Amino acid sequence: MRVLVTGSAGFIGAAVAAELEAGGHEAVRVDVLLPQAHGPDADATDTHVLDVREAEAWVDLLHGVDAVCHQAALVGAGVRVGDLPGYAAHNDLGTAALLAAMHRAGVDRMVLASSMVVYGEGRYACARHGAQSPPPRSREDLDAGDFENRCPRCGIPLAWELVEEHARPDPRSAYAASKLAQEHYTSAWVRQAGAAAVALRYHNVYGPGMPRDTPYSGVAAMFRSALERSEPPRVFEDGGQMRDFVHVSDVARANVAALSSIVDAPSGSNVAYNVCSGTPVSILQVAELVARGTGTGPGSGHWPTVTGEYRLGDVRHVVASPELARRELGFRAVVGPEQGLAAFAHEPLRA
Ligand code: UD1
Repeated sequence: MRVLVTGSAGFIGAAVAAELEAGGHEAVRVDVLLPQAHGPDADATDTHVLDVREAEAWVDLLHGVDAVCHQAALVGAGVRVGDLPGYAAHNDLGTAALLAAMHRAGVDRMVLASSMVVYGEGRYACARHGAQSPPPRSREDLDAGDFENRCPRCGIPLAWELVEEHARPDPRSAYAASKLAQEHYTSAWVRQAGAAAVALRYHNVYGPGMPRDTPYSGVAAMFRSALERSEPPRVFEDGGQMRDFVHVSDVARANVAALSSIVDAPSGSNVAYNVCSGTPVSILQVAELVARGTGTGPGSGHWPTVTGEYRLGDVRHVVASPELARRELGFRAVVGPEQGLAAFAHEPLRA
């Protein structure tokens, strides 16, 4: 396959391009090398330094490509209200412009990097009242240290369950809204252009090359950076938040599996898949696994501390079912969190 990878200089895009080449495929690398993500001196070797929002201007690069793997995006949760236009421009407009340019170039196959953030909260059930969709947690409950979602009907704490792809989307941040918008633009393009697409909803991705801690990075990088400063990782809430941490090498493999399936898929096919390890972990476990990877143990000065702090926009639990990707793409993660997070303690981060 000849695949154009957008965001090819990023944490995930670079791993996808490398995995394609390792499998004997060709990767055409495109990245705008945003200074806030890559620094002023980014290495542009093999990279076409181009903006997806201006894809019409570089449509020639798309000729002869079998599929596009669209990883370019502004990431993170969206910390400031002032971030809103950036998400809309890079993620919404960028995807729309890319799809239009692909249509002009006759490229009708796309794998889109989406995210579990499109779900908002994960899936919950009440022991008495069955499936429930809890509203955002209140500041009063969080201030009181009451972190679990409760049944809207009887008030007992809800149990988390595995989220499947048909769950109702509930984007709760600018980033989440833009990821869902990307899926929607792609669906419109599939219908209008008689094209085919796969959206991969990544869960918490970590591994070598992960960006260092900024207000926009995932928690694994924050824990890792705290340990490097010989400080204890600060575990928010009670540490019982459940997530699925998936290694970047598995995410790259999932992309190649999706690309291989999409090139032969019938026109009109458009499917979203969870990309996860299938082994849920709590945030406290994540902190302890990374800490142990540095050789530290309980009682040491930088063993993780559960602080009870909270971030108002955070969801409590979101844990995925890996079944659909397993069944339809043949994708199964090979790096479990115990092994992967311990190794992550020593792996290089992006400056
Ligand atoms: C993260 C990303 C999201 C991405 C998703 C899937 C961010 C901010 N969030 O969502 O954009 O789409 O993974 O890959 O990049 N926490 C601590 N200590 C800290 C920081 C956070 O305990 O220092 C806790 C948070 O309260 C939360 C959990 O760790 O409960 C996960 O936080 P984080 O990785 O930031 O966000 P996710 O919601 O999992």
